[in-house]
Amino acid sequence: MLRIGVFGAGHLGKFHLSNLKEIEDIEIVGFYDPDPENTKSVAEKYGIKSFDTAEQLMDAIEAADIVAPTIKHFELCDMALRKGKHVFVEKPLANTMDEARTLVKLAKESNLVFQVGHVERFNPAFVALKDHTLQPMFIEVHRLAEFNPRGTDVSVILDLMIHDIDIILHMVKSNVNYISANGVAVMSDTPDIANVRIEFDNGCVANLTSSRISLKKMRKMRLFQKDAYIGIDFLEKKTEIIQIDQPVDKDAFSFDIETNNGKKTIAISNPKVKDSNAIKSELEAFKNAIKNNIEPPVSILDGFSAMEVAHLILEKINDKQH
Ligand SMILES: NC(=O)c1ccc[n+]([C@@H]2O[C@H](COP(=O)([O-])OP(=O)(O)OC[C@H]3O[C@@H](n4cnc5c(N)ncnc54)[C@H](O)[C@@H]3O)[C@@H](O)[C@H]2O)c1
Repeated sequence: MLRIGVFGAGHLGKFHLSNLKEIEDIEIVGFYDPDPENTKSVAEKYGIKSFDTAEQLMDAIEAADIVAPTIKHFELCDMALRKGKHVFVEKPLANTMDEARTLVKLAKESNLVFQVGHVERFNPAFVALKDHTLQPMFIEVHRLAEFNPRGTDVSVILDLMIHDIDIILHMVKSNVNYISANGVAVMSDTPDIANVRIEFDNGCVANLTSSRISLKKMRKMRLFQKDAYIGIDFLEKKTEIIQIDQPVDKDAFSFDIETNNGKKTIAISNPKVKDSNAIKSELEAFKNAIKNNIEPPVSILDGFSAMEVAHLILEKINDKQH
């Protein structure tokens, strides 16, 4: 049994509590949330013990699940690592690069598992592509959300775009060469909408748009690579692959077209997306990493790299505004 404590029982923390309850070999020791009204209702609804301080809960557990606002990630992760506890922390890893660097140093010195909640890695639409080679040279991303004051403690880059930054860095294993970015603060004090172009050393270019002031939701990534187009709809959990002159999958719809370079076979397929719960999957992966003493699927260095790119983007946006 892994003895786990949840820090922050807000919007996402409640999902964590209900998912953790369903995972075998996990014992939820309790949760801590500084909001007394919320604490009372969560303790009643989930039948889980609440603790009066983060420190008391930390002392009673083996692993911390940190789902507090981003500006609190550092103090809670720091406390957990110093007390020798494994850490799962929601994205982004921390608020500032200095905080992130300190956490990486502390985690390296320890023998503890540290996973960051980049949950889109576990999105069933992305998982459905695991047997396909993803080597995009051009990436187009739209992540649009309706306005919600939750999350506006940080910019849309750290709130939403960081999901796509993590997925892109995971696929494009090359250094960032150049970034151009523009962002506008419309409803909050930090950018609520942004457009970013990231150029990598290997020639890949990613064009990302993120907004938290849209009327309609959208979470789409389109990958263009040699001989294939791959569409991933993270919201609708759908995938689409269009390939040229490749061995055609038996379920694909295919047809030939004449080009200046002769006949080409176009095949369109939709890899099957298995119904799964991404939050439960990431928390199960955390438990398994602790149990088997292995690197978690989204490591602290992955969380750090995503933050590094996010902060480079924020610097570019700030440069434009001054
Ligand atoms: N992976 C995702 O897709 C995703 C989605 C939403 C939020 N998040 C992340 O999850 C975190 C929480 O977001 P949310 O939407 O649940 O926010 P929220 O505001 O709904 O909940 C945060 C909760 O944390 C509590 N809290 C405040 N200070 C605390 C502290 N020091 N210790 C423990 N609890 C504390 C608050 O009282 C509140 O109940 C943020 O870092 C956010 O970026 C990730």
